[in-house]
Amino acid sequence: MSEMRSYDRSLAMWRRAIEMVPGGSQTNSKRATAYALGAFPIYAQRAEGARIQDVDGNWYIDYILGLGPITLGYCYPEVDAAIRAQLDRGIIYGLLAPVELEVAESVIEMVPCAEMVRFLKGGAEVTTAAARMARAHTGREVILNCGYRGWADGWMAQNAGLDKGVPDCLGGVIDGWGRHDLDGLRAKLEEHAGRVAMVALDPAGGGARVPDGYHQGVRELCDEHGALLMYDEIVTGFRMAPGGGQEYFGVTPDLACFAKGIANGMACGVVCGRAEVMRTAIDDVVISVTYGGEALSLAAAAAATGVIRDEPVIDTIWETGGRLMRGFDELGDKHGVPLKCHGYEPMSSQTITYDDPQLSQDVWTLLLQEMAQRGVLLRRGGLLFITYSHRDEEVEETLAALDESLAVIAEAVDSGTVKDRMRVQEVRESFRSFT
Ligand SMILES: Cc1ncc(COP(=O)(O)O)c(C=O)c1O
Repeated sequence: MSEMRSYDRSLAMWRRAIEMVPGGSQTNSKRATAYALGAFPIYAQRAEGARIQDVDGNWYIDYILGLGPITLGYCYPEVDAAIRAQLDRGIIYGLLAPVELEVAESVIEMVPCAEMVRFLKGGAEVTTAAARMARAHTGREVILNCGYRGWADGWMAQNAGLDKGVPDCLGGVIDGWGRHDLDGLRAKLEEHAGRVAMVALDPAGGGARVPDGYHQGVRELCDEHGALLMYDEIVTGFRMAPGGGQEYFGVTPDLACFAKGIANGMACGVVCGRAEVMRTAIDDVVISVTYGGEALSLAAAAAATGVIRDEPVIDTIWETGGRLMRGFDELGDKHGVPLKCHGYEPMSSQTITYDDPQLSQDVWTLLLQEMAQRGVLLRRGGLLFITYSHRDEEVEETLAALDESLAVIAEAVDSGTVKDRMRVQEVRESFRSFT
């Protein structure tokens, strides 16, 4: 391998960070140990379009993209101009910011279920708000959930003991069912008959494509049992279709949550849905945060949703993602490496599956290392996020880097030298499965 890129400044910063910040990062999935520590960048100093530069001066095509919020590309001119214009007028007021109306109108126009909206910040906040409104509206307590909804107590209680800080008693009002398992959902609705306030799911989650009729089946079961249906569109929103997974699959939930794709990286969360459910937020439940109407993020959301509505953003993301998925599968076959893409083009996932699970993990680490070395940042297992700024040049460079990296990997697997080629200091999966 050519002389390895230097990650010295990144590593020096990380050593300082782990003394001050538990885990070294603010997000579990962004922990340096989740990638390929010592053979992968840790700290970024700038980013532009589809590319990011680390603190050692290396540039990369980025497919991690803040874990999904960047839909248009870094420093997208229309969005940044809107943020700057708002900055000149103030960040947050005790009075209301007119831009709240603009974003509310965009969401109501673009998202099929949205009759009314509330703005918060992160995903856990909006999904928690949805659960609270659903309980108030139905007068029922139980939530049935499939997938990760955020770190809040009410969601983490689904897996008893997973989070030692969550009281066991909350486990009595949340339960789950298996991904794409309609019979499983039916059984849970029957088990908790008359007590289920809300069924929550991410419409394209779990890595695999959704079986035909699944979403229609879930909708029917909810109606049959008087439960509200909530789509967590935090990954799919403003990415899969302008109106999210609900527009793509043609099924309208009662409530929906957004917190990534809407503001091109600024922190803007939206809970929206049927007016009669949303109106519980007036007096029946307390959903109130200081920063919900913070105007820089809303200015970014107004600009970003405008671009997504008026330009071929979603079609371009699908097309680019499709070329990458096909390219990954073809190059895996070419080199005899069991690398496969799954799911949907705007945010596909990848698997590497050898009979030996440890070899699969090690090959992932080597792939992250080799791709970073060639100027491409992937994430173990995906999601492979795409932006409107990833174009032909990025696709070609990515596939050329993958071709070379898989040649290295195939040779290493054949010769039993995968571990010898890993330049990592420590390897650990950072993110336990919460489903
Ligand atoms: C589908 C989904 N829901 C909820 C969340 C939680 O969002 P946040 O980290 O902003 O609380 C995430 C985060 O990755 C997510 O992917």
